[in-house]
Amino acid sequence: MTEQTLFIVKPDGVERKLVGDIISKFEHKGFSILKLKMFTFTKQMAEEFYAAHNTKPFFGELVSFITSGNVVAAIVEGNNAIATTRLMIGSTKSFDAAPGTIRGDFGLGISDNIIHASDSKESFEKEIAVVFK
Ligand code: TYD
Repeated sequence: MTEQTLFIVKPDGVERKLVGDIISKFEHKGFSILKLKMFTFTKQMAEEFYAAHNTKPFFGELVSFITSGNVVAAIVEGNNAIATTRLMIGSTKSFDAAPGTIRGDFGLGISDNIIHASDSKESFEKEIAVVFK
């Protein structure tokens, strides 16, 4: 089932020069990169992007972190893209993420967990409306 999804290398991933390694993993897996963009989230974009979390205790930290530097967003396409990409990024808490996953291999943080990926088609549609409008 050919699908599209969005991933975003977060400010810690860009700062640590992991962009090439991360994009390579998606290309080697077989996904096609359809769009690629480097930008910095404004506070307003971040609040809209993470609206589902706006009542959570970590919301302030999340917005502050994602707006703290450049990010790289990509729309990728391939078989079962949404679920497969979620498997590739690993668990939210990087220290808990399985070795072999992006978070598992590259970090230890929670808000600074290197990469975001859409968790459903609905999230993908909402997120690309913010990032690629
Ligand atoms: P969530 O959508 O639960 O995780 P994921 O990115 O794996 O889909 O949370 C969104 C982001 O919020 C997450 O990447 C990092 C941040 N976050 C925290 O800072 N503290 C937390 O306790 C949780 C659950 C998330």
